[in-house]
Amino acid sequence: MQECILILDFGSQYTQLIARKVRENNVYCEIHPYNHIPPLDNNIKGVILSGSPYSVNDPDAPKPDLSGIRGKYPVLAVCYGAQLLVSLSGGKVASAKSREYGRANLSYIDHSCPVFKNVPANSQVWMSHGDTILEYPANFHITCSTESVKACGYSIEGEPTYALQFHPEVYHSTDGFTILKNFLTEVCHCQADWTPDNFVKSCVEDLRRQIGQEEVILGLSGGVDSSVAAVLLHKAIGKQLHCIFVDNGLLRKNEFQDVLDSFKGMDIDVKGVDASALFYKALEGVTEPEAKRKAIGKTFIDVFEAEARKFKSARFLAQGTIYPDVIESAPVKGPSQTIKSHHNVGGLPEKMNLKVVEPLRSLFKDEVRRVGRSLALPDRLLNRHPFPGPGLGIRILGDITAEKVRILQEVDAIYIDGLREAGLYDKVWQAGAILLPVQSVGVMGDERTYERVVALRAVNSTDGMTADWSRLPYEFLAKVSNEIINKVRGVNRVVYDISSKPPSTIEWE
Ligand code: XMP
Repeated sequence: MQECILILDFGSQYTQLIARKVRENNVYCEIHPYNHIPPLDNNIKGVILSGSPYSVNDPDAPKPDLSGIRGKYPVLAVCYGAQLLVSLSGGKVASAKSREYGRANLSYIDHSCPVFKNVPANSQVWMSHGDTILEYPANFHITCSTESVKACGYSIEGEPTYALQFHPEVYHSTDGFTILKNFLTEVCHCQADWTPDNFVKSCVEDLRRQIGQEEVILGLSGGVDSSVAAVLLHKAIGKQLHCIFVDNGLLRKNEFQDVLDSFKGMDIDVKGVDASALFYKALEGVTEPEAKRKAIGKTFIDVFEAEARKFKSARFLAQGTIYPDVIESAPVKGPSQTIKSHHNVGGLPEKMNLKVVEPLRSLFKDEVRRVGRSLALPDRLLNRHPFPGPGLGIRILGDITAEKVRILQEVDAIYIDGLREAGLYDKVWQAGAILLPVQSVGVMGDERTYERVVALRAVNSTDGMTADWSRLPYEFLAKVSNEIINKVRGVNRVVYDISSKPPSTIEWE
């Protein structure tokens, strides 16, 4: 049985980060909202209580019944979690004058406390809460302090409970990773067997059990998630897997053929469907970004459904849903758990009476890549930049025509190949070119030109929620700009986008 750490989410912005750090220790964990504590099976090795935007003194602060957990499982209470246990045990938490916010150093550490094994004196920690613990019950023992916060960490006599007012999961807590590791190994005695190889082994067994002899359809996008899902499924059920890859006419240059070729090389059944003409027809005269997304989405569903129906004996539809699509931070108000599901195929499973299979639904993006590596997928595929579903459709501002797509594909290919050649591709998070609905005057030879303008965009980011524009070297920009204008007929000007998100977005539409 897979050992598991249960993370109870009180709505902190850092909860997913705790989960990722636990997983980096090769320990499987699951996030559940504080008000939906799952059944505590034998596989639960410990519980982490997250931070929260609430103060424990707020009238509607989350205060779940922890009697099934405390004293029965090892507990690590972080920030709000630490204050919650104090408050529930009759101590006092308040917003004190001497509270700390941001960086602090541990001026006292009790090295007999197992979570502080190998944590050096004066270790830097990150505080991110307005409240602090002022009074604590007699059976609570201080395990660390800063200059201004005495009860920065504590343990509770007679139960394997450890609490920290700082956030061990954030980068600025220099020894936070060691502290989490100590909790997992010294307190919870986890085996740390959650590795990509083990995941592949158990996932393949689960898929075989779940699917049996039935046939499965999977929509391939050429991206990392659906590719890894395809390879996993193929390993599990071989020829029972049928992939459909739709060319919406808005892919990168040669992408359709490249993807088909690489899957053919792996002996995976992929049906390539060139539906470009249908998409261009649906997009005729459509200029508004959301209307374009809708037209592309609807056409995709129509094409995919028509193709899927051809596999008459299929009983399952596989999707590349990953963990961040499944969890949302606990709704800190209201009892219902919010689950966002990833339905890029509309209501197809219901309509066609297909069961859904989601082999990656417990994985974070970086884990999907590690699993892909363990399945020997090429790095070139695994390290691909994110690419939006509507593709070049939202990078051609204004209406879309086959000719505009061709121009943008050429520009984009020169830019992306250039990034690869210059060793810059893996240094930026996402890059692409945008065709502007603007013409500008230029001069080529003796002739005056009046042609299109393209913008190049490259950003650094970790999750796409915020992003900074990449400081690409001038020499590189000069070289690609020159190459684009010389080689792509119809373009006579290249500009570089130097806006960050927020306030700008990564895509222009
Ligand atoms: P923005 O433009 O919102 O983009 O800063 C953030 C990330 O999301 C991608 N993106 C999309 N992906 N369908 C998608 O599948 C879309 O409609 C869409 N719009 C933006 C974008 O490429 C970036 O990675």
